[in-house]
Amino acid sequence: MQRIYLSPPHMSPKDRELLLEAFDSNWIAPLGPHVDGLEDEFAEKLGVSHAVALSSGTAALHLALLVAGVGPGDVVITSTLTFAATANAIRYVGATPVFIDSERQSWNMDPELLEDELRVSAKLGRLPKAVLVVDVCGQCADWEPILSLCRQYGITVIEDAAEALGATYRGQQAGTLADIGCFSFNGNKIITTSGGGMLVTENSEWASQVRHLACQARDPALHYEHSQIGYNYRLSNLLAAVGRGQLTLLDERVAKRRANFDCYRNTLGELPGIEFMPEATFGQSTRWLSCLLLDPQVHSVSPSEVCAAMLAEEIELRPLWKPMHQQPVFIGCRVRNSGVADDLFQRGLCLPSGSNMSDSQLALVVDTLRSTLESGGCRHAA
Ligand SMILES: Cc1ncc(COP(=O)(O)O)c(C=O)c1O
Repeated sequence: MQRIYLSPPHMSPKDRELLLEAFDSNWIAPLGPHVDGLEDEFAEKLGVSHAVALSSGTAALHLALLVAGVGPGDVVITSTLTFAATANAIRYVGATPVFIDSERQSWNMDPELLEDELRVSAKLGRLPKAVLVVDVCGQCADWEPILSLCRQYGITVIEDAAEALGATYRGQQAGTLADIGCFSFNGNKIITTSGGGMLVTENSEWASQVRHLACQARDPALHYEHSQIGYNYRLSNLLAAVGRGQLTLLDERVAKRRANFDCYRNTLGELPGIEFMPEATFGQSTRWLSCLLLDPQVHSVSPSEVCAAMLAEEIELRPLWKPMHQQPVFIGCRVRNSGVADDLFQRGLCLPSGSNMSDSQLALVVDTLRSTLESGGCRHAA
């Protein structure tokens, strides 16, 4: 039996054709016409002035923090419900993360908790250098109140839209809502270059600094001259070629992931003790991952037990992100905890969500999950 993966790459013949064309052109270096093309097409698709292609979403976060002037001793406020890369990047620049819990309508950073934290930090004269907000699982955070608070305090805002390319907030594209936006093209994302990322901004100064830092901060000279520490973070021309093919299919990929979610909701939504991830009224989610919560009053099986049982049937599910404030590596960091992210982690499951899933694979996931939940100790009959 072929395993059904959580979010596998979905490649097209166009990607292959572009990759081979790049190979044959001998532009194998981390620069070349496909890198330029991908940057231009990405910027146009999102309606932003500058897009810089990078080797990963993590690299984009790292450079975003650097050009925002974050350094050792600074504080960066961020979302607790995320993948570790968000918080790791804060550590890369020597800063300290402060974690903010989620709200219920989007599972993203709670603006009220952010407001409390900013008020207290202002009083203590220790305002954060930046606020790094995540759009989790394909859905935007509630950006209006977040941005207006950060503007009020004059704080730079960075958007981690690694999981949300194609989502919108009040009609505006995810990743373009803050001062800098970061995307990932990792193999599990809605479009992929196998590994890769993109940083977008309206600030031309920051865009050129990012380009400079990503190329080992090489100063303009025939010999090798460096007046800053740089990084090797540019995207390969080969991978950019793949990205150009992928980008042309973004809208289709979003539509299919949303259709997967609708299928799960229509078939499993009537089961007792299941609650699907809400779609906030302020935007459209891509449903990058189809997520649901189990009610422990109804289901005695934990998300991890469900994952293990499903994996035995060759179906890959995952628990939701374990909040950063619960991670051993970030223990001791300050957190505004309302218990929402803890609850989501305790009860949350991510279902196979690939845009290349067939109807029969979806049906198999639904049937197997239904019987796993029923045999796993459904306490009340439906
Ligand atoms: C929220 C979030 N931020 C950052 C990243 C890092 O992206 P990359 O794997 O491209 O470095 C990921 C996923 O991989 C992510 O899910």
